[in-house]
Amino acid sequence: MDLLEIRDLRLRFETEQDSVSIVDGVSLSIGKGETLGLVGESGCGKSVTALSITRLLPEPPARYEGGQILLDGQDVLTLSQAELRRIRGRVVSYIFQEPGASLNPVWRVGTQIRETLRLHRPKEATDQEVIRWLQQVGVASPEWRARDFPHQLSGGLQQRVMIAMAVASRPALLVADEPTTALDVTIQAQIIDLLQDLQRQYGMSILLISHNLGLVARIAHRIAVMYAGQIVELGDTRQVLDAPAHPYTRALIRSAPELGRPSERLPAIPGQVPQPGQWAPGCRFAPRCDQANDLCHRTPPELLEIGPRRWVRCPYHEQ
Ligand SMILES: Nc1ncnc2c1ncn2[C@@H]1O[C@H](COP(=O)(O)OP(=O)(O)OP(=O)(O)O)[C@@H](O)[C@H]1O
Ligand SMILES: [Mg+2]
Repeated sequence: MDLLEIRDLRLRFETEQDSVSIVDGVSLSIGKGETLGLVGESGCGKSVTALSITRLLPEPPARYEGGQILLDGQDVLTLSQAELRRIRGRVVSYIFQEPGASLNPVWRVGTQIRETLRLHRPKEATDQEVIRWLQQVGVASPEWRARDFPHQLSGGLQQRVMIAMAVASRPALLVADEPTTALDVTIQAQIIDLLQDLQRQYGMSILLISHNLGLVARIAHRIAVMYAGQIVELGDTRQVLDAPAHPYTRALIRSAPELGRPSERLPAIPGQVPQPGQWAPGCRFAPRCDQANDLCHRTPPELLEIGPRRWVRCPYHEQ
């Protein structure tokens, strides 16, 4: 059984004035010890999907309209607030783009790691353990660093401390939402490699969300491509990158500088991701797709299984 299985998830944001569909029929799974990369342009629903796994979106305005989020076989959508609190940080932990949002500015980083460890078991963590966690995430001079406040650390070090805090609770699933976007390119690769090391060591599953296809390709076993609230392609990383089946995936790959050949000009995908509530009636990508025909504009495509664990939402995927 997969650790996480999201089936046909449908989520809306509702206010007194209006109600918009944000996630519309998302299905994906993550096996134990597996990394799934989730990619797609800004605003397509990656973060709201990730936050839904432990229901971190305030309800209302969020409302789960349908589907299931099976975590170890248990449907998160049926859990009470008390049960959700038990899952957060223990079964599933998160790291985000801005370490500043998760680190407390008035506490030394060592103290924060100690607190995280304490949350998950009865006995107090020793200094040695705190230092071991800093070492584990590649922080040099951990004895000194433990006494620093977050603002004394570079962005890369802050991100490492945040990863230590997320992994120290030994989650079954680590959700990394744009974990390196704020960092420079060399540090980005180091952080991604660190996640992979920690995964090998602790056997956790990872959901890695990023705009950067090259970084995702570096460690993801499988890739899910999202567009306008839906999964449009899902498959093994190599299959998706070497033989992308959906026109949107092909466009993303063409416009990814980190994957492209340097001699090629990078065509940006023309047009923009439509806002929720303004999705095209047929295929949502049709208005931007250079291969779209009349039928594409009229009929919403189904997600087709085109191979083992391989899906695409385009009836013309062979072209
Ligand atoms: N609290 C909210 N209320 C209303 N709409 C929201 C809320 N949070 C997100 N949205 C909308 O939901 C859609 C999906 O947002 P989401 O943050 O999941 O996108 P994303 O794929 O993570 O984008 P990015 O790559 O920029 O992080 C967007 O159109 C966004 O404006
Ligand atoms: Mg996001």
